[in-house]
Amino acid sequence: MIIDTDTASDDAVALAMALNHPGVDVVAITTVVGNCSLEDTTRNALYTADLCGSGVPVYAGADRPLLVKAGLATYFHGMDGLGDHGYPVPSRSAEDTDGVSALITHIRNSPGSTLVTLGPLTNVALALAQAPELVDLVGRCVVMGGTANTVGNVTPAAEFNLWFDPHAARLVFASGLPIEMVGWEICRGEAGLDATERAALRALDTPLAHFFLDCNSTALEASRKQSGTVRLQLPDPTAMAAAIDKDGVVTHSSSHYVEVEAESPLTRGMSVVDSLDVTGNPANVEVVNAIDTARFKEMIFDAARG
Ligand code: RIB
Ligand code: CA
Repeated sequence: MIIDTDTASDDAVALAMALNHPGVDVVAITTVVGNCSLEDTTRNALYTADLCGSGVPVYAGADRPLLVKAGLATYFHGMDGLGDHGYPVPSRSAEDTDGVSALITHIRNSPGSTLVTLGPLTNVALALAQAPELVDLVGRCVVMGGTANTVGNVTPAAEFNLWFDPHAARLVFASGLPIEMVGWEICRGEAGLDATERAALRALDTPLAHFFLDCNSTALEASRKQSGTVRLQLPDPTAMAAAIDKDGVVTHSSSHYVEVEAESPLTRGMSVVDSLDVTGNPANVEVVNAIDTARFKEMIFDAARG
């Protein structure tokens, strides 16, 4: 597995799910700007790897979107991306190789691997521009991003990862990569951890259980203000669960033509899903429509046990 991430609080839980899973071999983590600056997303990824006792190489990628300017999501995840708890400096630095080159090298070296994207798609778009053949080398590309014709979380039309760099998202969705899209709508409702589930997680009393909850303290409050939910929504872990255990987690998916809007100020970043196949265009995305939320949550608890 190769993970591309704008590591903030929910990404961190997703990274731990993969790093701590006995059936997953994470060969590389590449970081991108999004939730917070590239420096902070990279530091957060390294710190999370430390907590998991992992020496997986981390490579810093793009520090800005391809064309547009975009605001960070520090309002949601905290200024440092991990709830501003003053976590220690990571034990190591990122590799010297940049994230885009690393994506190309690791995908070439691990044909058939699963690429999981947890942030804006800038690195992936830049890698595809340099090496278009990557689309045939990636086994699965599980994308946390978009919303399937439903409400967005950063504008009424768009989810943050696709909104932050809409041109990159448009390129990646049109590239031919075997995309499995886990939209923001899948991460809401029953997929969120309610107070009882959060208390049970806390009661595990492991360093990761405390970290999962503490680093998402700002996100929990921001979610409540944003949509009134009292649940802790964890989009990236939702996508990671689908990547790790597709048969156990994904209960319904369907393949459709999906195009991303990149120019309209009103709908920039919108993932337009041709759910009724009215365009006649060939399907380019497998859209996840429903998950087994209990199975997903079990995977978070398993990761927290370390
Ligand atoms: O819209 C949710 C996504 O945006 C998640 O990946 C979160 O980490 C942010 O990057
Ligand atoms: Ca993310």
